[in-house]
Amino acid sequence: DLTGIDVRAEIERLRKERNAVILAHYYQKPEIQDLADFVGDSLELSRKAAETDADVIAFCGVKFMADTAKILSPEKIVVLPDMDAGCSLEDSCPPEKFKAFREAHPDHIALTYINCSTEVKALSDVIVTSSSAETILQQIPKDQPIIFGPDRHLGGYLSRKFDRPMLLWPGVCIVHEAFSETELLKLKAKHPDAPIAAHPECPPTIVDHADYVGSTSGILKYANEIEGDTLIVATEPHIIHQMERALPNKTFIGAPGADGNCNCNICPYMALNTLEKLYLALRDLQPRIEMDEDLRLAAKKSLDKMLEMAS
Ligand code: 13P
Ligand code: SF4
Repeated sequence: DLTGIDVRAEIERLRKERNAVILAHYYQKPEIQDLADFVGDSLELSRKAAETDADVIAFCGVKFMADTAKILSPEKIVVLPDMDAGCSLEDSCPPEKFKAFREAHPDHIALTYINCSTEVKALSDVIVTSSSAETILQQIPKDQPIIFGPDRHLGGYLSRKFDRPMLLWPGVCIVHEAFSETELLKLKAKHPDAPIAAHPECPPTIVDHADYVGSTSGILKYANEIEGDTLIVATEPHIIHQMERALPNKTFIGAPGADGNCNCNICPYMALNTLEKLYLALRDLQPRIEMDEDLRLAAKKSLDKMLEMAS
């Protein structure tokens, strides 16, 4: 029971006392984004985690992100406010099945989306994020066959854009799958001049209507560049908080799901983190990411490859 506790003041006190850095993804609740030391996309958050000189990383995002921070910064204590903050893409790709898939295609390299478990990273050659995938793919020789997992929509998008056939793992993000093409077109009819920005985790029925397709940081940059005053945003709607902060004179509309509003596109995993749980994580240094050292080193190879090829 936290009645009577000033959670925000306690977070401030503990952040200093523990020499902690609070990292948050753009899909976190506004109150978490606002007190974080750094808010970013998956690639930027990985870089911050690798570079920080804090003793504790409080990761406000989902588990694969906190795992990535631990892989890159093993000497730090990494806490995740809610250990159940998973990801449907990670769940779709059990390591033993992924291993069998790889073994069935020994001439293919595994280009793998960062939204996966540490075990799957350890079975992969190069990790990508949505902001680094295009740069990395273009460095892979044309005749090299590729397995791409776990997001079939991101893989399919890259495959079509660069005319590169790929064997796709059949995973999806439940959040980006929930956008409705019919409702999007109805919204567009009401705002014919508003461009549409979409994350590549969206299915082709959404991406094909988009004026811009890119990562969360890419969509934020695009919001800055549009000529008109309204943008339709087809990704998790909490990102709109950053847009409204940076561009108060523009209007941002979350793309709708089948019920005609954007609430069904809130990521249920990201939403598990709260200020109260962040306070408890800083106080107790739990829930904490722990990892087998051999597994960590194996996963680090494909992540290091990403950091090297992305820059
Ligand atoms: P990015 O922020 O890297 O675009 O990732 C989006 C996402 O779905 C994270 O779970
Ligand atoms: Fe996973 Fe989708 Fe949630 Fe991102 S938005 S954490 S990809 S379920």
